[in-house]
Amino acid sequence: MIKAGIIGGSGYTGGELIRLLLGHPGVTLDFVYSTTRAGRPLSEAHPDLLGQTRQCFTDQVNQEADVVFLCLGHGNSGKFLGEWSFGPKTCIIDLSNEFRLAEQASAQGREFIYGLPELQKEAIAKARDIANPGCFATAIQLALLPLARAGRLTHPVHVHALTGSTGAGASLSETSHFSWRNDNVSWYKPFTHQHLGEIEQTLKGLQPTVGEVFFLPVRGNFSRGIFATAYTPFEGTLREARELFESYYQDAPFTWISDSPPSLKQVVNTNAAHLHLHLHQGTLLVTSVIDNLLKGASGQAVQNMNLMFGLPEEAGLALKAIGF
Ligand SMILES: NC(=O)c1ccc[n+]([C@@H]2O[C@H](COP(=O)([O-])OP(=O)(O)OC[C@H]3O[C@@H](n4cnc5c(N)ncnc54)[C@H](OP(=O)(O)O)[C@@H]3O)[C@@H](O)[C@H]2O)c1
Repeated sequence: MIKAGIIGGSGYTGGELIRLLLGHPGVTLDFVYSTTRAGRPLSEAHPDLLGQTRQCFTDQVNQEADVVFLCLGHGNSGKFLGEWSFGPKTCIIDLSNEFRLAEQASAQGREFIYGLPELQKEAIAKARDIANPGCFATAIQLALLPLARAGRLTHPVHVHALTGSTGAGASLSETSHFSWRNDNVSWYKPFTHQHLGEIEQTLKGLQPTVGEVFFLPVRGNFSRGIFATAYTPFEGTLREARELFESYYQDAPFTWISDSPPSLKQVVNTNAAHLHLHLHQGTLLVTSVIDNLLKGASGQAVQNMNLMFGLPEEAGLALKAIGF
């Protein structure tokens, strides 16, 4: 059994990892570190775990654990790895954006590999340390990877993506306050969102001449999921576009092309990404839906762990969508 530890266990992505790892057939949840809840039951922060585990949070770590997931806010992962050293065999999977860009990927004596399985499964399987992609970045890259690999992203790409409130983490903020968020919609960081860096890094790696990505993030009035649309000029037929996507994702167990326009609830609570293609007078519209906390964070982190430890890619990730 793989011995796993979680740092930042009382937050949203940490909570999702606890739920996934408790049900994972190849993993023992060794410890869940918390700065604020040491000694308290996991079910105090995550009441749905009542009856599933009696485990408590701790302020100690097992420095010889097989894998440690860092579920911390920006800037705290490097700090944590500076304070706690782990053995050379311990794999680190970081969910923050600290190590995702190539120029930041060598840190703390570790070499972080960008953990998007649909981009580089083989590199992930050989990696010791992983920088798990961002949630928006996952949904958007999945919408564009096949086009970039085929050299078909020569024009600007326009992306609108709606996110649920859990995307902002568990701490209360003005824009996640129920009274403000409910029955409300708003955009933020137009064309400057921090995930653009990793998106452009990937796309340029596949197609150096890639057109600019204009990304408008939108806050939706729901709690989970990302609903992203990307459109760009496309010289070809819908059938040709479909073949590009089908061929690119033939070995991707979680990414599927949908015949009908997808809605969020078909992927919420799963590690799936559903894509849909629509062609209108030379403009290709790609819709991409994921659960921000699963395929956009903790589910993808477990998928990466499975690849790194030679387990089936889908292990522990047979989840049930909300559906309706
Ligand atoms: N939310 C998403 O949809 C999503 C998706 C993809 C990636 N991410 C990334 O994943 C990371 C975690 O996100 P989240 O949404 O889970 O955040 P969160 O709900 O705010 O949880 C972060 C946790 O970190 C712990 N923490 C805070 N300061 C710390 C410190 N100095 N040292 C150690 N632990 C500390 C806290 O837990 P304790 O009080 O128990 O210590 C807190 O609950 C972020 O970098 C985020 O950008 C999030």
